[in-house]
Amino acid sequence: PGSIKNVCCIGAGFVGGPSGSVIALKNPDVEVSVVDLSEARIQAWKTDALPIYEPGLLDVVKAARDTDGSGRKPNLFFSTDVKSAIQKADIVFICVNTPTKTAGTGAGLAPNLAYFESATRMIAEYAENDKIVVEKSTVPCRTADSMREILAANGKPGLNFDILSNPEFLAEGTAVTDLLRPDRILIGSMLTESGLKAASALVDLYAAWVPRENILTMNVWSSELAKLAANALLAQRISSINALSALCEATGADVGEIAFAAGLDKRIGSRMLQASVGFGGSCFKKDVLNLTYMAETLHLPEVAEYWHSVVTINEWQKNRFTKRILQRLHNTLSDKKIAILGFAYKKNTSDTRESAAISVVQSLIAERAKVQIYDPQVSQGQVWEEMQIHGVPIEDVSKYVTVHRNAYEACAGAHAAVILTEWDEFCNKDSNPPRPAKREPKETKGNESSSSTDDDSAVEVGSGDLRRARRATLEEKNPRLDWTRISGLMQRPAFVFDGRRVIDAQKLEKLGFHVEQIGKARVA
Ligand code: NAD
Ligand code: UDX
Repeated sequence: PGSIKNVCCIGAGFVGGPSGSVIALKNPDVEVSVVDLSEARIQAWKTDALPIYEPGLLDVVKAARDTDGSGRKPNLFFSTDVKSAIQKADIVFICVNTPTKTAGTGAGLAPNLAYFESATRMIAEYAENDKIVVEKSTVPCRTADSMREILAANGKPGLNFDILSNPEFLAEGTAVTDLLRPDRILIGSMLTESGLKAASALVDLYAAWVPRENILTMNVWSSELAKLAANALLAQRISSINALSALCEATGADVGEIAFAAGLDKRIGSRMLQASVGFGGSCFKKDVLNLTYMAETLHLPEVAEYWHSVVTINEWQKNRFTKRILQRLHNTLSDKKIAILGFAYKKNTSDTRESAAISVVQSLIAERAKVQIYDPQVSQGQVWEEMQIHGVPIEDVSKYVTVHRNAYEACAGAHAAVILTEWDEFCNKDSNPPRPAKREPKETKGNESSSSTDDDSAVEVGSGDLRRARRATLEEKNPRLDWTRISGLMQRPAFVFDGRRVIDAQKLEKLGFHVEQIGKARVA
């Protein structure tokens, strides 16, 4: 057993909630408190209506949080009492948000470290004994230096704070399986005796379920930069394939075949090469910009420009897709109804941050189109909020945007259906045969709680072990679209713009649709 008995995670968001829950599940003798300033978020973590949707998460949370009669004592707690949680903890993970700055120096590029610094200051203020303090948030390289200064200047005299970097690599939609079976765990420390001892304590916490050979230790600066590097390299692959998708559309080549052929080369590999309307999510853009800003401030303009081009291509790809819609619809969208299928930034998540759908909808509103949105996990309130955050006035949103309970409603009277998220229910390809429908599309938007009573939960965690990891994604429950029915609902000519390449175009063309796909010239 390791030396850590009490863990505190500051920030009960997409990272702090799931990682704290898995640490608790896998270390039944360790007490884990996940704390946040947001009362509403913490209250939701205490119920079955968790504040975020992740397949399998509710099972993990319940197994560690609730008494289940198995004799296991609950060891996962959610609270707004940040002070007590810090005081009790041997180790504190900082999992707060680090969004891109919107004002001041570096606005639009640099990460806003205000939340991160305030969490660090709280640790300094409240700590009454030595602590290991872990950067789990994604931060610029050398943040550990700033933390050291803040903790040393504000902590009680005589206390020792060891700072570790332990970046998180989970992807949303697969958070639970990523946490249960990570490719690697990365732990960066100072190479002093005390730093190495702290790293070793954290290694032991993870070794409860991660094979030791998958737990890497290195110097703290490498660990900080490795996180930014990993996200930049992943985003760069998507921008590379998206740049190629434009060449494909212009030449008659098919980007799916390009990615397949290139990906068979083991040096290239096949993953993260799916051409799309553009990457979204809270991480890729922010972290590439973070890296760009670091390079700029370190007087490396060529390096900054290189990484910035990853974001430039992504913005261009989103605009390019919208222009294609405009051109195919005879250069006017005024008063035309456009169905948007999918608003989340990828499937199996309710998260809409930086979703490509936001800029596509924004451009459609500018053209005065009537936008009819359906996403199985995104509510009207969330769409409206997201559009307003991105500067679309509420009058325009309420005038031009409606959000619907299913794809059929969204497609009613539409000139075009635009697929922006790759939810399985939109896919009509044979290669991925539909699963039998278990129930009708949900009438209400919700989160995992609505499916939590089903017996097909994603992860069985009864004894704390992963016995079977099985996806209980929403699309198992939502049947695939009946495109014949959709065809009957739409205007003529009926266009489908597939921003995710989930459509077998020939099948839809046979039903009379005109199909336009990313990375492919139109079927003749
Ligand atoms: P989030 O916005 O979902 O959650 C952050 C939480 O921190 C919020 O609930 C907020 O109220 C809370 N918070 C902020 N300041 C606080 C303070 N001083 N005290 C207590 N609580 C505070 O963010 P997230 O998506 O979980 O991301 C957290 C960090 O992890 C970011 O740096 C992000 O880049 C990184 N990361 C995110 C992902 C992901 O998939 N979302 C993956 C890897 C890494
Ligand atoms: C990403 C990283 O994958 C993860 O390791 C890190 O910790 C956080 O950032 P996430 O943003 O949750 O995770 O999802 P990811 O699956 O990487 O997808 C990001 C975006 O890229 C999505 O919009 C997705 O649709 C898009 N994407 C992904 C593509 O367009 N093509 C691909 O081949 C893969």
